[in-house]
Amino acid sequence: MAYPPPLPAAGLPASDPAALLAAVLKANAHTEHPRLRQILDGLIRHLHAFALELDLTPAELDLGLDFLVRIGQASGPKKHEGILLADILGLATLVQLRGARHALAAGGTEPALVGPFWRANQPLRRHGECISSDDTPGPRLTVTGQVRSLDGTPIAGAWVETWQASPKGLYENQDPEQRHMNLRGRFETDREGRFSFVSVRPAGYPVPVDGPCGELLAAQGRHSMRPAHLHFLVVAPGHKVLATQFFDAEDPHALDDVVFGAVGSLLRRFEPDGAGGFTLDVELRLEPGETHIPHCPLP
Ligand SMILES: [Fe+2]
Repeated sequence: MAYPPPLPAAGLPASDPAALLAAVLKANAHTEHPRLRQILDGLIRHLHAFALELDLTPAELDLGLDFLVRIGQASGPKKHEGILLADILGLATLVQLRGARHALAAGGTEPALVGPFWRANQPLRRHGECISSDDTPGPRLTVTGQVRSLDGTPIAGAWVETWQASPKGLYENQDPEQRHMNLRGRFETDREGRFSFVSVRPAGYPVPVDGPCGELLAAQGRHSMRPAHLHFLVVAPGHKVLATQFFDAEDPHALDDVVFGAVGSLLRRFEPDGAGGFTLDVELRLEPGETHIPHCPLP
């Protein structure tokens, strides 16, 4: 028998990337679910183009695959390294802004990531109530807000969830010195769609760097900081859920958020209240649609 054996007539032409790509796409054509087929098709095309453009070596491919394995190994019930990877690559923000493009074009509030620190069963608070315990240090921050639909109509009876880090840059469930559910609350909007609360001015904080994402940031020569912010999640019947964050425009990382969430209109100046504290007024404009409450990452 001749060696090497001749390739079968229908075999893959090994030196033809276009034919290889066509064969892989043909194999994917049997995927039953239409959207999954479409997503895999795009992923395959972009991966092949990526490898060709960069002349990716087998050793580099191995390194990348090992990194993905370690992303999985670093994840568990309390930490999702995969979410962090999508965050620090800007992919999560891109997907979220893309999904909100119609609302944004109509004047909707820019969304921002829910993040890993929202908790289920945050305490229901009264209008104007203080969400920080007496022993929380830091300057006072008075927050007022109004929830409206895209056409400007105030939304009464909306749920407004808020949560924030302390002036030390820690959420209460990360910090044994803070009380249970400190700096968290849920409010119901009044007839004019308004809510208000008193808190303290938050500080920025680093994302976790003890896993492979930390190695990636170090390799890129990047810092790990998020600018100071307050989270909001607004739920109103007949409207899409809005998750967003408002950022302290004076934070040193206001224009340099490690997860690229501090976009455009979400940067705010915390105005001095004349008594050593600050004020923040926000408007939350929701897009009409189906109400899908996101999965809450923490009990
Ligand atoms: Fe946060």
